[in-house]
Amino acid sequence: MAFEIVATGRVAPARRISNDELAKTLDTSDEWIRSHTGIGNRHIADEQTATSDLAFAAAQEALQMLIDHDKSLGGSLEAAAQSLDAIIIATASPDYFGFPSTACLVQDRLGANKAAAMDVVAGCTGFIYGVETAAGLLSIRQDRKRALVIGAEILSKITDWKDRSTCVLFGDGAGAVVIDKTEAPVSGPGKRGLLRSILGADGSGGEHLIMRRGGTRNPYKQGETLDQPPHIEMNGRAVYNFAVKAVTDTMEQLLQEEGLSVNDLAWIVPHQANARIVQAAAKRLNIPEEKFFLNIEEYANTSAASVPIALDEMNRSGKLKKGDLIITLGFGAGLTYGGNLIVW
Ligand code: UT7
Repeated sequence: MAFEIVATGRVAPARRISNDELAKTLDTSDEWIRSHTGIGNRHIADEQTATSDLAFAAAQEALQMLIDHDKSLGGSLEAAAQSLDAIIIATASPDYFGFPSTACLVQDRLGANKAAAMDVVAGCTGFIYGVETAAGLLSIRQDRKRALVIGAEILSKITDWKDRSTCVLFGDGAGAVVIDKTEAPVSGPGKRGLLRSILGADGSGGEHLIMRRGGTRNPYKQGETLDQPPHIEMNGRAVYNFAVKAVTDTMEQLLQEEGLSVNDLAWIVPHQANARIVQAAAKRLNIPEEKFFLNIEEYANTSAASVPIALDEMNRSGKLKKGDLIITLGFGAGLTYGGNLIVW
């Protein structure tokens, strides 16, 4: 039994903001942002758009690709949606606080009437957790065969636009993959799909990346005047150090457990938080930087959406070929970390 990614999709809001545009109203510069992060632009949703809108659009892109892959769907998007057994959305910026889940909103709009639907909250590692969760859900019941895993974020609505140390970093977007349970082997010759994952957390670092207000720890009180909406607070240096170690350790462990070496990998697809994290990890592991796929210049840090956006871009541009061995890597709020080792 294998869990194979058979279709992908992505979407980013049309509004694209360059570093120079940000620097018109903020004490920053294109030079600082590029040299410290590798970011050149970010896409920002308009006021009317919520995370489920981006998730829905990315899902439709993926289902469109699924129709080409699975001829039994007769070219019908409705049939594709109805073939889903589970919808998982990784997000740290849901439409609603707590409930209903963003996954339920998307399930309804797609008409995926036999799909279980839930959100995964694991910060920027959410998609990595989501893929493993999907494989678990599919494996435990014989009649579950297909899952849709989406990473979707509108971070611009939970960003303090006066805080230059965070607001230049984030962007909005969504990416989606369809995972099919197939009869292919997961070991030996011809192995395919998700080979293994590592999921981890170090909750002691929770303070380093936090939305402090609005939850049951610090609820808004009746009559209270809000100075600002809930927003991301980050100790960038602490998260940076955590990230470099998480990326290198996860990769080494995944390869070692599977008896593989870096040379076997076609691509490493890291969470797009900072190009310098990738450079530091490449140096530590003695891997050429070109092995890491980076599109942070265009999208900035889209949290749980960054890995599926990257996968779709690579898939559609022909960078990913059937049979390629790849590693996805995530790290972020929680603090969480993880990786999926996948034969494409
Ligand atoms: O996706 C979730 C996971 N998140 C991450 O992985 C983020 C990890 N952290 C990072 O990527 C980096 O720590 C940052 C990009 C956030 C910051 O880079 P840094 O090299 O650690 O900069 P810093 O925070 O140490 O700040 C250096 C200087 C400071 O000035 P002083 O005190 O040295 O005078 C900051 O005030 O840069 C200043 N600075 C800026 N200057 C211009 C901070 N932000 C900006 C800015 N423009 N946007």
